[in-house]
Amino acid sequence: MAKLRMGMIGTGVAARKLYLPALQRLSQQIEVVACTNRTRKKAEQYAKLAGIPQVVDSAEELLALPEVEAVFISLPIDAQPALVLQALRAGKPVASEKPVAPSSAAGRKLIQAAARFSTPWLVAENYAFMPAIARLSSWVAAGRLGEIRLLEAYQLTFMQSKNPYFKTAWRQDPKHVGGFIADAGVHLAHAVRRVLGTPKVVGNATAQFDPVILPIDTAIALLQFPGGALGTWTSCFSAHHHGPMLRVYGSKGTAELGGDTATLRSARGKETVFKSSVEMFQAQFSHFRDVVKKGVPVAYGPEEALLDLSLIEAIVAV
Ligand SMILES: NC(=O)c1ccc[n+]([C@@H]2O[C@H](COP(=O)([O-])OP(=O)(O)OC[C@H]3O[C@@H](n4cnc5c(N)ncnc54)[C@H](OP(=O)(O)O)[C@@H]3O)[C@@H](O)[C@H]2O)c1
Repeated sequence: MAKLRMGMIGTGVAARKLYLPALQRLSQQIEVVACTNRTRKKAEQYAKLAGIPQVVDSAEELLALPEVEAVFISLPIDAQPALVLQALRAGKPVASEKPVAPSSAAGRKLIQAAARFSTPWLVAENYAFMPAIARLSSWVAAGRLGEIRLLEAYQLTFMQSKNPYFKTAWRQDPKHVGGFIADAGVHLAHAVRRVLGTPKVVGNATAQFDPVILPIDTAIALLQFPGGALGTWTSCFSAHHHGPMLRVYGSKGTAELGGDTATLRSARGKETVFKSSVEMFQAQFSHFRDVVKKGVPVAYGPEEALLDLSLIEAIVAV
């Protein structure tokens, strides 16, 4: 099948650290034919690194290129909605980074504005392409854990100035709800929703321990799920943690999620370990190629993304 000819809007840290290795592995499926970035020099450096033949000055210019079939948008969260609409207006299928918008209210407005276009729009939530989450949620659905009683979700990172994400200006002065917790926590919100559904009750408390992490660096929440199970959520960007991101406790066993691994333990201690052989960014880009080239339905669209954003927004509410 012919390659997807993709344009990239935004060539920052994620483009270098996360997309480039995945796109290099997908070189037979996707060709990045042009890129643009607010600071042109950075786009030029990225193009050199990634072997992209063309750098243009603006998103408008990129969207007007006939050789660009579809675009990937990776900008500060509050800058993305306008670009998503611009791409849809230009009739170019678009994948835009998570979360879908800087707040759930902005997300609802954006989805409403996008509804008049039939061009595909994938929200690039890489956890939607994480096989270990799919496996854990299939164990729960198949009753392998029995009746589910409890879920624990953990998002802890000791965020410091050495971290390349910390240095980005838009994260230091966030225009999106919840700062780091929502930016990164929306992934975990997706995992939680995939496993037990959207909580019907969320009660939370927040704190700020590190004054340079705005607007808060810590949030905890109590969750109640539609099936009756209870959950706890712990986010902290000023403490260390070694352990799984998710634990689920049932009447017949427990399961946990740690990156690309899901582990099931029966009540008798028998352990089943699932380790994914598929890298999630590669799976996400490959899916986007299939959406554009084969017409397969979008696996994770803006409505689903809005539910994940709404959950994390409830957790960070001050
Ligand atoms: N899926 C994941 O796991 C994951 C991980 C990290 C990030 N992300 C997402 O990826 C996106 C980019 O994050 P990042 O860490 O790569 O940030 P970044 O390094 O700051 O990259 C963002 C790029 O957008 C440009 N930019 C900044 N403000 C802009 C504006 N107002 N209008 C247009 N362009 C602007 C910047 O250009 P300059 O060079 O001029 O500053 C920069 O190159 C975010 O939406 C983030 O949520 C996803």
